Amino acid sequence: LFESVELAPRDPILGLNEQYNADTRPNKVNLGVGVYSDDEGRIPLLDCVRQAEEARVAAHAARGYLPIDGIPGYNSGAQKLLLGENSPLVGSGRVLTAQSLGGTGALKIGADFLRRLLPGSKVVISDPSWANHRALFAEAGFTVETYPYYDAATHGFNFEGMLAALRALPEKTIVVLHACCHNPTGVDPSAEQWAQIADTVRDRNLVPFLDIAYQGFGDGLEEDASVVRLFAQRDLTMLISSSFSKSFSLYGERVGALTMVCSSKEESARVLSQLKVVIRTNYSNPPTHGGMVVSSVLNTPELFALWKQELAGMRDRIRSMRTQLVDKLKEHGVSQDFSFVKSQRGMFSYSGLTADQVERLREEHGIYAVGSGRICVAALNSGNIDYVAKAVASVIG
Ligand code: LMR
Repeated sequence: LFESVELAPRDPILGLNEQYNADTRPNKVNLGVGVYSDDEGRIPLLDCVRQAEEARVAAHAARGYLPIDGIPGYNSGAQKLLLGENSPLVGSGRVLTAQSLGGTGALKIGADFLRRLLPGSKVVISDPSWANHRALFAEAGFTVETYPYYDAATHGFNFEGMLAALRALPEKTIVVLHACCHNPTGVDPSAEQWAQIADTVRDRNLVPFLDIAYQGFGDGLEEDASVVRLFAQRDLTMLISSSFSKSFSLYGERVGALTMVCSSKEESARVLSQLKVVIRTNYSNPPTHGGMVVSSVLNTPELFALWKQELAGMRDRIRSMRTQLVDKLKEHGVSQDFSFVKSQRGMFSYSGLTADQVERLREEHGIYAVGSGRICVAALNSGNIDYVAKAVASVIG
């Protein structure tokens, strides 16, 4: 039966974890996957999460099946974070949300839903984009192309290139946009540029699919949602995949959400009914624990305030690692200007390291980065930053 099955290549991001775990060098560093570690190199258990978990365990809560679309309080909490506490759009009943298996799960159920609705449409993603975007939409049956995004020469954003590409797309093309903290580059458009992007999406009748997996890691929860709100203000129907994996440090709990903004309340009921078919035929309904924890933090004012504080702590630590990395590289004799790392946002830096340099970092120093040169700044800490900077200096030569 399985004779003809070929060996698939390792996943470009999660495959690195497998290699990293098998590496026996004591000073190894994992700058591959997008996971935040604290200054001791541990994935933190947030205090708000610990409190919500303790209360849940103490309550001996039953674990029956959840509704197909998940926990109502979780979904309404996700909507408020995206569209604002008192969003008239949410009030109008035009917005629906389904708890999903992480941000990836949200993208996948969204992709499956869209594939049925728009079989003739293609998907465009940024160049570069998160490696799984292309793979996921292609697996869902779409042709996937790219629009210009990153300008390697300036380490900045190619605004004109992106806008021109969007203008040339056929109507109903699905445009995947990173609403904040672009993965992998860390380079985001300005507010004015976003306004023009949103206008173009509306004028060209494109289908926006906003991916927001790092809300809170840029400037703050509200600030990072501004792009979602800018699209909402233009009355665009859209899909939004969001994730609590990083912001709650609950990676393995697969806590994401797919939100869709529809034209009317009645339309939203129809859309939700079809989305539920997609979910039911994939995994039936989402798991309880992580979703219940997130829901309780989002809906308990003291825990919510604590979460915001803890999230700010993570954001600030990443910023300080950016500055320190730039300084340390200089200290170790790197003459190349790396100051761009400081203005990048979120967990990642597109470092400009070549595939060869990334390979040397891994082989010679046990430092793991994505082949594209993406490094996870959130995995640097005071114990490894000097080692990393020295190693980078040595491979740059
Ligand atoms: C990443 O880009 O490293 C994260 O989003 C984790 C993943 O699933 O790839």
